[in-house]
Amino acid sequence: MENRSNFGSKLGVILASAGSAVGLGNVWRFPTEVGNNGGAAFIFIYLLCVVFVGVPVMVSEFLIGRHTHTNTISAYQKLAPGTWWRYEGVAGVFIAFLILSYYIVISGWTLYYLILSLTGYFSQNQDYVSCFSDFVSHPFQPIIYSALFMLMTHLVIARGVESGIERFSKVMMPMLLFIIGILVVCSFGMPGARQGLTFLLRPDFSKVTPSVVLSAVGQAFFSLSLAMGCLCTYASYFGPDTRLVKTAFSVSTIDTFVAVLAGFIIFPAVFSVSDVEVNAGPGLVFITLPNVFHMAFSHVPILGYFFSALFYVLLLLAALTSAMSLHESVTAYVHETMHLSRRRAAALVSISCMTLGIGCSLSFGPWSNYTIFGLTMFDLFDFVASKIIMPLGGIIICLFVGWKLDRKLVEDELTNGGTHRFRLFRIYLFLVRWAVPLAIALVFVHELLG
Ligand code: PHE
Repeated sequence: MENRSNFGSKLGVILASAGSAVGLGNVWRFPTEVGNNGGAAFIFIYLLCVVFVGVPVMVSEFLIGRHTHTNTISAYQKLAPGTWWRYEGVAGVFIAFLILSYYIVISGWTLYYLILSLTGYFSQNQDYVSCFSDFVSHPFQPIIYSALFMLMTHLVIARGVESGIERFSKVMMPMLLFIIGILVVCSFGMPGARQGLTFLLRPDFSKVTPSVVLSAVGQAFFSLSLAMGCLCTYASYFGPDTRLVKTAFSVSTIDTFVAVLAGFIIFPAVFSVSDVEVNAGPGLVFITLPNVFHMAFSHVPILGYFFSALFYVLLLLAALTSAMSLHESVTAYVHETMHLSRRRAAALVSISCMTLGIGCSLSFGPWSNYTIFGLTMFDLFDFVASKIIMPLGGIIICLFVGWKLDRKLVEDELTNGGTHRFRLFRIYLFLVRWAVPLAIALVFVHELLG
């Protein structure tokens, strides 16, 4: 590929990849899953999933991308020409496209809530339930916010890898980490801090069932951005001296750290307000929290204002860096194989994704009665992506690296041509050949039959 750009620095590599991983999944989905699945016991199982399933799959994606230096679909074609393995690349890019089309819907809500919080809306007593349901079911308001969010993502992607993705990640990720720090400190000062922390730190293993384990695997895949061609595409911009295993550990550590810290922000706040339920489901961020902002700071409304605005800035930054990677996974393919300039490719992806996004957004309002298999368009996309293609993709990536690729090639990539040692190589190989595919398959079959 002529003049293919690369990330300019190691920090850029880590921050961009961590930007992909840290997203709505950490700040919104993780605390919800923890709330629904019994607190600390879930966190413990989640950590095991990250180390034994997430990291090996991430390393495998990195090595496929870095070795081939091309988009995900061409990567599989290059490594195994003319075989059916290439459909894994196709599935990855396709699923990134689907996820982006509903990710922008929730990101659009986040943008709206940020604006509401800046107008001081959460400092007054409001009916937050109808505020949320009126907004999401409105025929065009949420679409406008999704389109704005899409435009922001588009503008970064159209600028390219180094001056778009890398530059923005280097600004946004430190900001995001800083905001989390401030919010954690604020949250620890709240009256419900002790209860919240107890909930997060005291495990109740009686709550652990196979479906909790499944939720943990699913959450790990979603949160680490696996099996969607995103990290594979980013890795195709890594330089020859980037250490893949180390980078995978750093990215997973940052991602997990942010998820747990988001729990430290949310649960003390939620427990400070006694009549709010912990496992409030997806409404947690858009209904429960606004209530908490208002009630917990009722005597110092300015603090409520500050806390809510910072929280939604955090959510927006997290969503944006993840949307960038989903967009890039598709744009890289369109740009490189359809011979369109990067700007045109990005525009094509943005417009077609936005078109699907309109359907996803309408499925909360005027189209909520149109269902396929009982699922609205939004739910269907989420189901196909996170319950079917993601786990299958995880299995296929592992089998591909474990069995199809030449062992020497794998070892060379993981040691940068033998310039450093990778002591756990045999363990890694065992995990990708046997343990991870079997574990995912078991969980997957259990879910299908259940
Ligand atoms: N990892 C992102 C999150 O936690 C979501 C995402 C999934 C991004 C898949 C890219 C690919 O929200």
